[in-house]
Amino acid sequence: MREGPLSRKDDSISDDSGAVHKRRAFLKTLAALGSAFVAVVIGVPAAGAFLTPAFRRRPRKEWTQVAKADLIDIDVPVKVDFAESTNDAWVETRALRTVWLRTEDGETFTAFSGTCPHLGCSVNFEPSRNSFICPCHHGIFDMKTGAVLGGPPPRGLDPLPVRVNNGQVEVILKQFRSGVPERVEV
Ligand code: FES
Repeated sequence: MREGPLSRKDDSISDDSGAVHKRRAFLKTLAALGSAFVAVVIGVPAAGAFLTPAFRRRPRKEWTQVAKADLIDIDVPVKVDFAESTNDAWVETRALRTVWLRTEDGETFTAFSGTCPHLGCSVNFEPSRNSFICPCHHGIFDMKTGAVLGGPPPRGLDPLPVRVNNGQVEVILKQFRSGVPERVEV
């Protein structure tokens, strides 16, 4: 007679224990899903903000004003120095650039990079020889075309796109790999 109620009680305890286990498992799952949701909501934008600069495309090269057109003497190369700022991922760098401008009529211009294509020294203009000279290894370049006239440079001076806009000479700054005959932009 006493076994009946006791047995039901045991069953009842067993049922309660199973329900508690199920509830705990459910709460654990709920907590895990909640944590995952918070991680996605907070983590993905944060990771995106952190990584975006690394994957951002470099800005397209723009025209840069370098001189007033009417201040450039006819047939005399003029050296223009200026600082260029670039943003690469998280790092902003400023570098000194040099461009040589020349005109025969005051309206159309040629522009050469001031960087020697041999190993990257700065070239100077030598009026007595009507040539650009690199002091590092005595590279010599033609004043009009930039072609190599002597020394070890593997190619001529690098020409840059140039135009006159509202009386200002503008160029697009480009850099090329040193020490190779091909003109490879970097
Ligand atoms: S770096 Fe100009 S000739 Fe070598």
